[in-house]
Amino acid sequence: MKNIIAMVNMKGGVGKTTVTVNLATCLAKNYQKRVLLIDLDTQINATLSVMPPIHFAELRDKKRTLKSVIQQITKPKNRLYVPIKEIIKRNICGIKGLDIIPGDIDLYDDAELAMGIFEKAEMYQDNFYNCWEIMEQNLIKTILQPVINDYDFIIMDFSPGDHLITRSGILASDYYVIPAKAEPLSVVGIGILEGRIRQFKEKNQTKIELLGISFTSLGRASKMADSIKNRLKEDFGEKALFETEIPMNVSVARAVDEFMPVVLTEPKSSGSKAFNNLAEEFFVKYSWKTKKN
Ligand SMILES: Nc1ncnc2c1ncn2[C@@H]1O[C@H](COP(=O)(O)OP(=O)(O)OP(=O)(O)O)[C@@H](O)[C@H]1O
Ligand SMILES: [Mg+2]
Repeated sequence: MKNIIAMVNMKGGVGKTTVTVNLATCLAKNYQKRVLLIDLDTQINATLSVMPPIHFAELRDKKRTLKSVIQQITKPKNRLYVPIKEIIKRNICGIKGLDIIPGDIDLYDDAELAMGIFEKAEMYQDNFYNCWEIMEQNLIKTILQPVINDYDFIIMDFSPGDHLITRSGILASDYYVIPAKAEPLSVVGIGILEGRIRQFKEKNQTKIELLGISFTSLGRASKMADSIKNRLKEDFGEKALFETEIPMNVSVARAVDEFMPVVLTEPKSSGSKAFNNLAEEFFVKYSWKTKKN
């Protein structure tokens, strides 16, 4: 099943989380798909886009966040075992089929992780970097294994930048969507991401395919935005950009304060309509690609 989607751009603040939670919600609500949203970002923005902080705090106290399943792999001596199915919060925001693995503000401790990998390398008389790569390749894949067949889509929200969790999430994914803004630094983020994916492909570590680039518009059309889009079309192909552009819309920002995606809080807003259109385009593209493959 090719159902794991990375929503990723190395640049921060380009709309990754907003696009991710609204897309996931539309796929469950409009297409009755079983969707698992995973928050891989320690900013926990995706989590707080679908539940209030108090609810998150309760889950964290009960160790029902992504951290628990990550630590089962990064800290093998860890005694706490919580099966991933017990961590999943189901039917969030009252939408049947929309589930989430809540993120955490600290997913793992870098020093502890490095120490664990160092010990493994010594034990197997292997090179530290090989062991690190194995961790990257397997961490998110291993976590998702027990639930892959339970969902039509597993959609992951990433933090900006190039971290172990991001690389591991990309390596676990079948497709990726790049949320972007038509501004130069957003394109730098795409360049860094593409460089990383190229490296993975050269080592035959992934067959991940681009599903599309989704733009959140900066307002009025501009020459700069057009030239950026043309450049991306030259690099990725004419059809790489989703036709739907997400407008800047105050309803989108307001929804964050209600801990719900805008497609639920203000379904008639321009932002909401755009997310519904984007989900339709996504669904058509995905269906076409998976049939072709
Ligand atoms: N279409 C929109 N209209 C209005 N505000 C928006 C829109 N899209 C995103 N925003 C706001 O812009 C900010 C950045 O968006 P978002 O958090 O989705 O970006 P991000 O790429 O996930 O950021 P980060 O890299 O920090 O994870 C947020 O405050 C969000 O509410
Ligand atoms: Mg985000």
